Amino acid sequence: MNILLLGSGGREHAFAWKMIQSPLCDTLFVAPGNAGTAQIAKNIDISATDFDAIKTLVIKENIEMVVVGPEDPLVKGIYDFFLNDKELKDIPVIGPSKIGATLEGSKEFAKEFLMKHNIPTAAYDSFTAETVEKGCQFLETLQPPYVLKADGLAAGKGVLIIQDLAEAQSELRNMLVHQKFGAASSKVVIEEFLDGIELSCFVLTDGKSYKILPTAKDYKRIGEGDTGLNTGGMGAVSPVPYVDAVLMEKIENRIVKPTIEGFQKDGIPYKGFVFIGLINVNNEPIVIEYNVRMGDPETEVVVPRLKSDLVELFLAVANEKLDEFNLEIDERSATTVMIVSGGYPEDFEKGKIITGLENVTDSIVFHAGTKLDNGNVVSNGGRVMAITSYGDNFQEALDKSYKNVNQLHFDKMNFRKDIGFDLI
Ligand code: AMP
Ligand code: GLY
Repeated sequence: MNILLLGSGGREHAFAWKMIQSPLCDTLFVAPGNAGTAQIAKNIDISATDFDAIKTLVIKENIEMVVVGPEDPLVKGIYDFFLNDKELKDIPVIGPSKIGATLEGSKEFAKEFLMKHNIPTAAYDSFTAETVEKGCQFLETLQPPYVLKADGLAAGKGVLIIQDLAEAQSELRNMLVHQKFGAASSKVVIEEFLDGIELSCFVLTDGKSYKILPTAKDYKRIGEGDTGLNTGGMGAVSPVPYVDAVLMEKIENRIVKPTIEGFQKDGIPYKGFVFIGLINVNNEPIVIEYNVRMGDPETEVVVPRLKSDLVELFLAVANEKLDEFNLEIDERSATTVMIVSGGYPEDFEKGKIITGLENVTDSIVFHAGTKLDNGNVVSNGGRVMAITSYGDNFQEALDKSYKNVNQLHFDKMNFRKDIGFDLI
């Protein structure tokens, strides 16, 4: 079958790498893709949110399945666009419906879903410009630090954690009245602060049953020791060594099962990934957010650990046969280290020629922000490439990733030298 994958990051290169290994995959198209996907699939230069252009492509190229990488097309309703179109309605889209994607698109919607289905989450209330003074009073009833979350999509920047009450009140006004995050902060969720270790749980569902995918931990801050600004993610490790069977059972029974049952009870069509952000407070997992897609760079360590055929797995999702699917996982550890443009996550330059790719051995290079320019691979974004390796344990895998990172060069290249530091 011909398949279309939407997106252009390291996540999408990892999906593409795995999907083309399937005998079920004839031609894989990636829109818009990057220099890495161009080497193994057919890049199409259209945006992942240009639904009309996607429709034309799907019909012209006889595409029989669409896999959605990032959240934007999902939140904009690509699943419903296909379902409501006479010519597209029988083509499966791997990703939730628009209402399902609202779990990531609106923090308030996610909180209401969590409360309604008795899934453990931090206490909260939400406010608008009209109720800003009530929000300021609500902050006075909480203990610091104060957690303020822009309701809508804000590219991972919409969450503020503030120690000082007066500062929290002033930031709340900035968000609600002065639109600090644009329309995304026209509503703000104020949440109880949870003190614990963060972890993520990745689930794939066909709306009825589900499979829990390997655990992974990412490193979000730009600086060593988890310092400095937040990024999309600077590296990842799978599995997470401290997640044991007891904790996984709590996560499954208290969080995953009621989430999938909640989709059914609320009539939310959901055939795709659920990425559940958790904080482990004294061995009690509590949900801090839902994402409706896989993580990036978590995908670059989770997908390489799937032994099963990914296209077959997606077909099981589309056909609601996930309960019959035998998901096989590679026992080895996988790690990835992101190389990024100097300056990222603030201003950075693009178009730097990347050298040394031919010297990489024993690792998989997943491209993120790259493009081809006159035969050269050049940087084209903040996060440039993820260098993934396997090992019998995460240290062995990390040694390989770092050995190969050191083979690669471009002007002002940066990376974190301490991925996995907190796991030893
Ligand atoms: P989110 O976009 O909801 O994942 O929030 C971004 C980051 O803020 C998370 O990765 C956590 O580090 C932190 N965070 C969010 N909610 C809370 C909370 N209730 N308590 C403590 N930290 C939080
Ligand atoms: N790495 C975190 C995310 O994809 O949201």
